[in-house]
Amino acid sequence: MTETSVEEQSTVVTNAPANVEVDTSYENDSSYGDELSAYSASLTSSVLDYRHENGRRYHKFRDGSYLLPNDESENDRLDMAHEMCLQVLDRKLYLAPIKKPQRVIDLATGTGLWAIDFADQHPDAEVIGCDLSPIQPTLVPPNVKFLVDDIESEWAYEDKPFDFIHARYLAVSIRDFAKLIKQCYRSVKPGGWVEFQDWDGYPYSEDGSLDDTGLQRYFNEAYGAFEKAGYEVRPGPKLEEWFRDAGFVNIHVEKFIVPHGVWPKDRHLKKVGAWMQAQAEAGFEGGALAALTRYKNWTKEEVMVLASQARTDGRRHDVHAMFDFYVVYGQRPEV
Ligand SMILES: C[S@@+](CC[C@H](N)C(=O)[O-])C[C@H]1O[C@@H](n2cnc3c(N)ncnc32)[C@H](O)[C@@H]1O
Repeated sequence: MTETSVEEQSTVVTNAPANVEVDTSYENDSSYGDELSAYSASLTSSVLDYRHENGRRYHKFRDGSYLLPNDESENDRLDMAHEMCLQVLDRKLYLAPIKKPQRVIDLATGTGLWAIDFADQHPDAEVIGCDLSPIQPTLVPPNVKFLVDDIESEWAYEDKPFDFIHARYLAVSIRDFAKLIKQCYRSVKPGGWVEFQDWDGYPYSEDGSLDDTGLQRYFNEAYGAFEKAGYEVRPGPKLEEWFRDAGFVNIHVEKFIVPHGVWPKDRHLKKVGAWMQAQAEAGFEGGALAALTRYKNWTKEEVMVLASQARTDGRRHDVHAMFDFYVVYGQRPEV
């Protein structure tokens, strides 16, 4: 991975050659088989009075605005996704060149693992993680606190701006990324950094092997429903433009290939692909259930069949699906 950061210029660098080579010697790689097999906000009863629907649990604060569950099974998936992101970035939490940050926020923190790890690595920083759901652990480092907040509403952070604002994996969560990134600009100190890590949510294959599979159908149907509902499903490739429009400088863009499954020959991509498959399989049903039942009138059973077909085809060694994951950071000018 090379890094190029030039004022007002950006570079796309990938973690893989132009074509990802298939591991033709693959039979059953058991080592990868194994891998597959203090709230500061007042937690009023209205926030904890979760919505229950089709056997899954959803957030209550701003009811209906996020279409994925917040139950134990989804939270386990988010923890797996955290590990996958660390694998992708060689265990780095962020790529921005921050120095001694004092005040940091992780937007839509989920189960809060990024914020907790960041607080451990920067004991002098005050770290906030905010989310619609109070699903974060209570035993956390003393310098991290979690808030229930809606990042798509007006922020109250401008009087106490941040040195670093981080947001990861918000595809299918947010409707207006351009507005959110402008809000980040207003809430970061001059000279401070903002970093978003996000997906182009649709998978592809370089050899056509994804075509007409259950995996492709899953994303076409489910993400089609998210798009119908007004959510951004492919923010990754658009982040650079949104950062530029907001006024950031020293913008840096990196693109990482994330395979689905253990089909690549390259050991690093194989491992990343194993984690991707594990977290995706854990999320196929929950990821599509509310979007397809609420916005496309599917039944729960139809969604379960779709998810099962995605799981089955996603396990096939002759289906070489992959995703693009983007890390984009930029700096608010000093003056
Ligand atoms: C896919 S998860 C990613 C979690 C975390 N950023 C990570 O990378 O592990 C998306 C998270 O966004 C949260 N979310 C969605 N819309 C939000 C909003 N408007 N304000 C705050 N959090 C939101 C959800 O509750 C969920 O925890």
